[in-house]
Amino acid sequence: MTRGLFISFEGIDGAGKSTHIERVARLFREAGRAIVLTREPGGTPLSEKLRELVLHEPMDALTEALLMFAARREHLVQVIEPALARGDVVLCDRFTDATFAYQGGGRGFDWQVLAKLEHMVQGLPDGALRQPELTVWFDLDPLIAAERLAAARVPDKFESQPADFFAAVRAGYAKRQAENPSRFARIDAAQSMDAVGADVGRVVSDWLRQAAA
Ligand code: TMP
Repeated sequence: MTRGLFISFEGIDGAGKSTHIERVARLFREAGRAIVLTREPGGTPLSEKLRELVLHEPMDALTEALLMFAARREHLVQVIEPALARGDVVLCDRFTDATFAYQGGGRGFDWQVLAKLEHMVQGLPDGALRQPELTVWFDLDPLIAAERLAAARVPDKFESQPADFFAAVRAGYAKRQAENPSRFARIDAAQSMDAVGADVGRVVSDWLRQAAA
């Protein structure tokens, strides 16, 4: 049976990742793979309800972190683990790195507490930690991201944060990359849409070649 693959896509709001995720999905579909295209917070009916709360209600920083992990637990158990067991390709628009970047970096919430929650929620029976095998990080200057967002949509609780919040989120992603260098692929999201798309295609193909070797 084909082995399941787990890829996540990350970046500050406005970095433009959504369009590219769809293109990666097409790449895998054309190769005959079954795809699960999903997102966090969300991906199950309960997790989508938690998403509504966490994106729109003001709340304490620990409550926010716990809700992110609660939604993730449900998502893992109901969707991600069964998909990987079937041998599907799971493409996830954000995963745990977003919690470290937004709650840890952006909100300044304790990194070690997040690491404990990560172990609790993503721990596997053999003691390993469920993580994406590849994380594509769309890295962008927050000022450029803010310009793009202003033209795009009505902001939610996170999107309406000031640029210095996103600078801290970006630093959170950089810290996660430094802690997990083999899993992270950084894409310069300030480039044109086509150039970003080409980089994403290259990163995914290179990684697949390596994974198959
Ligand atoms: P989205 O708009 O890319 O779907 O992401 C939803 C928002 O939730 C985005 O502003 C990032 C934020 N978020 C967190 O703060 N922590 C998390 O763990 C996740 C997954 C998302």
